[in-house]
Amino acid sequence: MRELKILAVVVALTLITYWGVEPFAHSQMHPHVHPADYNFAKADKESSEKSVKEASAALDEANKNKDAKKIHSATVALEEVKAVEKTKNDFWASIQPSIDAKGNAVAGEALVTANCTACHSIKSKGFPEVMDHASAAAAYGVTPPDLGSAGKLYSKEYLSAFINDPAKASDVSHKFVDGRAHPMPGYSWMQPQEIADMVAYLQSIAPKEMSNKEVFTDACQRCHSIKYADMKKGTMAAFTPNDNIKDYMGKLPPDLSQYIKSRGHEYLETFINNPQKHLEGTAMPRVGLTEESQAQVVTYLEEVGDTSKAQREELGPKFLIYMVIFAIFAFLWKGSKWREVH
Ligand code: HEC
Ligand code: HEC
Repeated sequence: MRELKILAVVVALTLITYWGVEPFAHSQMHPHVHPADYNFAKADKESSEKSVKEASAALDEANKNKDAKKIHSATVALEEVKAVEKTKNDFWASIQPSIDAKGNAVAGEALVTANCTACHSIKSKGFPEVMDHASAAAAYGVTPPDLGSAGKLYSKEYLSAFINDPAKASDVSHKFVDGRAHPMPGYSWMQPQEIADMVAYLQSIAPKEMSNKEVFTDACQRCHSIKYADMKKGTMAAFTPNDNIKDYMGKLPPDLSQYIKSRGHEYLETFINNPQKHLEGTAMPRVGLTEESQAQVVTYLEEVGDTSKAQREELGPKFLIYMVIFAIFAFLWKGSKWREVH
């Protein structure tokens, strides 16, 4: 009877920890943010609406307390977030014509060749890197990615927006050391049809399938390295040399080998989808991946970061077999001992 009581206490404590304490601690350590949203126009609209609502509430509060100083600062803050809201909404509205236009890949090829290959390689189409990574980084701050896969990594909506205005599309308000908001020039001077043509071309040349590693390489490796991962999988250095990118972004992008362990799935999913949700004002751009590509990146971080996973999974059945054999021996041994006693 006593054993049963002890067992009941142990089970109860375990369940409380599992369903009560752990989720509570988790919610306290990771404040809730909006889940990942791959419709960036809608996501930006919602986040600026939220900021306006919060700023209005702060102003109401200041008015209630009749605190002149606070009323003034809250009024200024509200004006600011309203201006940001208008800029964002106007921006996404201005992209709509390119999104609605039906792109012509042949016309797009000529435009991409003329406008983009001065900085970007498209190796699959015979456009090599214009210069080595270090020189490109010295020239632009960040080594430009190869564009062969852009049509797969990014949606039509995001690509149209990004080509139009890279800083607004990637939601960075951060200014780089040269005072610019983004290393790539925007093409808002082009016709919506021309932008649609370029997007159609990028989509037409993109591979249908990519490995998780290839997605990481094209989307993240220009800034991030993976150096402390499974040596069998090989390590990767960031394309942009550390000094350049640190100078340019004001901060060295961290090595991502172990991030899956330190941050976990949920954090990574919302962070990569929009870094501003977790680190307001951060230099990391919203890379703008589609849901599928982002899932591949996170899986890749898991593959390289949690290298003992396969080992652990292999060990499980072995351990069970060991337990069974051990139990049989214990049972036989017990039997023989009791025989001697009787
Ligand atoms: C002056 C050089 C330059 C030119 C010209 C240029 N780019 Fe870029 N582009 C860059 C750099 C640098 C980056 C990397 C920026 C970063 O990651 O902060 C980049 C990034 C990109 C990305 C990645 C988007 C993302 O969300 O990460 C795409 C797609 C892209 N460029 C498309 C184009 C297209 C299409 C053109 C032609 C219409 C073009 N670029 C012209 C320099 C350039
Ligand atoms: C143009 C450069 C650039 C690109 C491209 C980029 N990052 Fe980053 N990333 C940064 C910088 C800079 C930081 C440091 C941000 C900070 O601490 O404010 C960062 C930070 C991070 C962090 C750490 C977040 C934290 O909580 O500390 C993660 C995770 C991350 N990036 C993942 C990615 C992934 C995955 C990709 C590809 C989809 C990617 N990044 C693409 C520049 C970049």
